[in-house]
Amino acid sequence: MKVYRDHYFKKAKQENYPARSIYKLKEIEKRFRIFRPGMHVLDLGAAPGSWSLGAAEMVGPQGRVLGADIQTTPTSFPQNVTFMQEDVFNRSQAFEDALAALSPIHVVMSDMAPSTTGHRFTDQARSANLCREALAVATQCLIHGGSFIVKIFMGPDFHEFAAEMRQYFASVKTFKPKSSRSESIEIFYVGIGFKGCDGGADNRVDDAELRS
Ligand SMILES: C[S@@+](CC[C@H](N)C(=O)[O-])C[C@H]1O[C@@H](n2cnc3c(N)ncnc32)[C@H](O)[C@@H]1O
Repeated sequence: MKVYRDHYFKKAKQENYPARSIYKLKEIEKRFRIFRPGMHVLDLGAAPGSWSLGAAEMVGPQGRVLGADIQTTPTSFPQNVTFMQEDVFNRSQAFEDALAALSPIHVVMSDMAPSTTGHRFTDQARSANLCREALAVATQCLIHGGSFIVKIFMGPDFHEFAAEMRQYFASVKTFKPKSSRSESIEIFYVGIGFKGCDGGADNRVDDAELRS
């Protein structure tokens, strides 16, 4: 596998993040202003841990982050992060309990990516499956008005998945961060204003509640 040591790779090392992907989350945040102190965040595909670390900084000590990944990570996390080794398609009871204890959740984010086969359509189909599972989890635990950030490989399912997201979110935006390699087929969808599974009214996240 080709190892890239570009500007973002070096910056991540200098700033003590385990992966360059942190700058994608930072760009998403700069554009959409999603995170606030005190929020509860679910991070799917959390290893090696940059997004969980970044989210933990943004939500502060009163906030909480639950990270899950099929792989383990040697990263040490601050107290407000819990990391669990989980396959999103085969979630354990311990994970469901941790999720219930943290719910309702303000932000669900998924940077999940399949192990690539080099066969474009297979990789895209697997990415779309991961996105659908992440959306299923998000609709199970998000607060009304909550947000969903999801990475998808562009391909045949890519517009269809946005349409699926629109059933649940007041607004769905597409974003390609500068720190995402130009040759990469990944893009991010950002769903804002979770309407609930019944597509009900958008009750905005209550700021006063977050500060209490
Ligand atoms: C690009 S990495 C995530 C990087 C992470 N956001 C960070 O900042 O450190 C994609 C992750 O998706 C995870 N993943 C792939 N399939 C998964 C599954 N079925 N369940 C949970 N995680 C999965 C991989 O193990 C991998 O760690």
